[in-house]
Amino acid sequence: MTDLLLATRNRGKAREIGAFLGTGGAGLRLLTLDDLGIAEDVEETGSTFAENARLKAGHYSRLSGLDTLGDDSGLEVRALGGRPGVLSARYAGEGAGDDARIARLLAEMAEAADRRARFVSAVCLARAGAELAAFIGTAEGEILRAGRGVNGFGYDPVFLYPPLGRTFAELSLEEKNRVSHRSRALAQVREFIRLGGLR
Ligand code: IMP
Repeated sequence: MTDLLLATRNRGKAREIGAFLGTGGAGLRLLTLDDLGIAEDVEETGSTFAENARLKAGHYSRLSGLDTLGDDSGLEVRALGGRPGVLSARYAGEGAGDDARIARLLAEMAEAADRRARFVSAVCLARAGAELAAFIGTAEGEILRAGRGVNGFGYDPVFLYPPLGRTFAELSLEEKNRVSHRSRALAQVREFIRLGGLR
């Protein structure tokens, strides 16, 4: 049995990662920071998603002694020059909720005709503080002028995924996991593990 620590406290993300990797790997046991009683946080000081994923994976793999998957993700909006980007979680200030973040995004985009945006997910696998592998996944879409749907988390209600004509919040967990940025990055993780990368 291979143990893998998921270095996230975001329950929406943990649910998606668990649903995705849990189905893929015979012999893979996923643990969370809470399972291990790790309360310490890592400051996300990187200027890219990849840097932050590496910071998290490195830090928690050193702390726990377990192989660790760190991830960082967010939304890049064309009309906003790529913002909120690595600041996606803190876009409406520390402690604000998803509704406040979406409200700020829609307000900033009120005049924007170009609604194109993409979600980006960077994941890094680390052992004893050193990177084993790193992957990126993206999902291209458009920002609506009002939210639709109740599933998912974060910016999902306003992120229209054109190939399906629905927002990410209108997809079931299984449907989102077929097309999302996170699942595209995690598919590469799954393949890496399948080929023996965590041995
Ligand atoms: P992280 O925990 O630093 O990776 O923050 C990612 C933030 O980006 C989340 O808090 C959400 O606001 C946003 N985000 C990332 N992935 C998704 C997604 O799949 N759906 C909606 N919002 C997302």
